[in-house]
Amino acid sequence: MINIAVLGYGTVGSGVVSLLDKNAASISGKIGQDIKVKYILDIRDFGGDPFGSLFVKTFDTIVNDPQIAIVVEAIGGTGAALEYTRRSLEAGKSVITSNKELVAEHGSDLIKLAMSKEVNYLFEASVGGGIPLIRPLAECLSANIISEIYGILNGTTNYILTSMKKDNASFDDALFKAQQEGYAESDPTADIEGHDTCRKICILASLAFGRHIYPNEAPTTGISNVSISDMLYAKSLGYEIKLLGRAKAVGDKVAVYVAPHLISTLHTLSGINYVMNGVMIRGNAVGSVLLCGPGAGKMPTASAVAGDIMNAAKHLKARKWIGWSDADKGFAADPELLDSAWYIRTDAPRDKIERVFGSVIFANDGLSDADRISNAKNAENTFITSVINGSKVDELLSHGIFAKSKFRVLGDH
Ligand code: HSE
Repeated sequence: MINIAVLGYGTVGSGVVSLLDKNAASISGKIGQDIKVKYILDIRDFGGDPFGSLFVKTFDTIVNDPQIAIVVEAIGGTGAALEYTRRSLEAGKSVITSNKELVAEHGSDLIKLAMSKEVNYLFEASVGGGIPLIRPLAECLSANIISEIYGILNGTTNYILTSMKKDNASFDDALFKAQQEGYAESDPTADIEGHDTCRKICILASLAFGRHIYPNEAPTTGISNVSISDMLYAKSLGYEIKLLGRAKAVGDKVAVYVAPHLISTLHTLSGINYVMNGVMIRGNAVGSVLLCGPGAGKMPTASAVAGDIMNAAKHLKARKWIGWSDADKGFAADPELLDSAWYIRTDAPRDKIERVFGSVIFANDGLSDADRISNAKNAENTFITSVINGSKVDELLSHGIFAKSKFRVLGDH
């Protein structure tokens, strides 16, 4: 029997405890022994909870118990979660987490610590919820040289963008629903402003390119500036708007960023809706691989955490190589150097736009009559530029064209 402790009994922690209980027979059949939740640590009281007898209020009980082989950190954040993770690893216990903030900020240190103690630090659930992503990238695709990873990595924002477009929901109603479903972070700003996506793409980039990319090295824009009009203009041009995290090799560096993109309706990612996430990985042997599935939610996340618990239980005496090393300064390239076409919405007149940008594709021609009339009243133009880098587009806009919206258009992949 393997004894484990679960730190934090929120959405993720309670999902893990319930899954381990529900599928206990199948899980022990697969790994050849039982997994027993011996403790649940939470400072809150959960009167009447079926696992009430397992609750403890002090971490010392867990870290000082030599029977505990695996600790599941489901506290979140980088305060107590960091301290308890370090102390668990130092005590020779493997740690499993869904905490992307902790992995993105402190991953290389914690991986190093786990290695020195010959235990595992596993974080499958930190990116893409229930989608198998970390292990396929670290193991199945490890023979490839990865050139690019990009994808929809946040269920809450994808849910909001989809509901606004398909269900005519307001931003606030869609956010409320995502919160009710347990998808959103406790502070939804991290979802809406792209920080959650940023942490996840940094983890994937670190794993794929072997060096730690920190969130403050990845310029991040969220969805608060995406309007319904942008979605309609994009649609008239044959595109959806999705929040993407992207990591692309640039020589021996990697450019990582998060921003809303226009994606062709012919691209598979454009059909990834609501809470689903989808990640495209491009390797020099495999070509393009798309992994998609539920990117958030209690039980999909519990599925990934429980898979890691089973993996750690099977490898209690063997290190799994899932990780990366520290990066030299300057490993992160400036994403402004990346070329793309750009979507611009502006009040500037067409003749001026064409004078400054040359040949462009205007969206207005594809709109319905009603939209065109209201557009004409607003004197608004939207267009797609030729393929230029981020510095060039800003330089051209500085010729008196104020962009109310400016998004990259994902190229052909
Ligand atoms: N808030 C996150 C999301 C949860 O919406 O994707 C899963 O990481």
